[in-house]
Amino acid sequence: MLITPLTRAKLVELLPEGLEIAEIGVASGGFSRTILDGCNPRRLRMIDAWMHQDVAHLKPDSNNPEQAVQDERHEGVLRDFAPEIAVGRVVVDRAYSHVAAERIADGSLDVVYIDADHSYDGVMRDLTCYAPKVASGGLMMGHDYTLHPRVEFGVVRAVNEFVLANGYNFLVLTLGENFPTWVIAAELRGTANAFMERIVTRVSGTVEVTGFPEHIAFEPKYVRHESTGFSFVPSFSAIKD
Ligand SMILES: C[S@@+](CC[C@H](N)C(=O)[O-])C[C@H]1O[C@@H](n2cnc3c(N)ncnc32)[C@H](O)[C@@H]1O
Repeated sequence: MLITPLTRAKLVELLPEGLEIAEIGVASGGFSRTILDGCNPRRLRMIDAWMHQDVAHLKPDSNNPEQAVQDERHEGVLRDFAPEIAVGRVVVDRAYSHVAAERIADGSLDVVYIDADHSYDGVMRDLTCYAPKVASGGLMMGHDYTLHPRVEFGVVRAVNEFVLANGYNFLVLTLGENFPTWVIAAELRGTANAFMERIVTRVSGTVEVTGFPEHIAFEPKYVRHESTGFSFVPSFSAIKD
């Protein structure tokens, strides 16, 4: 695995151009625009239910606002991306992620970016639904490979378990911002190979760690500050047998 001091915005600039990408969890479309500008995909599928979910684990999540705000976000996305939608460069699919997955052909995506329900069950469901949609040598990546002081985040556990159970390679972890991005792939070829080569050759400060996640655990720590709330310290430790 490569640990690289990038932000996710800088990371997507290292993806090859002309890819078929799906973003799972869009909200107001801020990162969708970053993807379009950063790596000029052939097509970006923007998938979000834009539904307020009345479930306990999403109650404290600021990305689960009341329905009126969800509707506004959806309308805003349709307005902001209208030129790209008109030419088929963007497809907006308002649906729960597991339902939207049924409309995508197996092996048709080069990259899936998962950033929807961050609970263990939510992330595991998205990994499981979207893995077959990814082409050989394609990438699965996502946001928030960390713990959260208020919201139940199961991203670390779900991604690690998925990698180990399915023989995936844990390729990249970004540590250039408080909420790291994870990148995994079934096979190191094609898009995955080109992407890794760019990180190794272009990003100074990149470090290789072997044996992750089977022998090394990632246990992010939050440090509280009176003035700024909290900051984040990435912490790794050996897994004892
Ligand atoms: C963290 S926000 C997405 C942020 C966006 N990727 C960005 O970086 O700007 C999470 C979004 O996922 C959506 N969401 C949550 N659970 C979902 C599910 N099961 N299916 C589809 N969308 C979901 C929410 O409506 C919310 O807009």
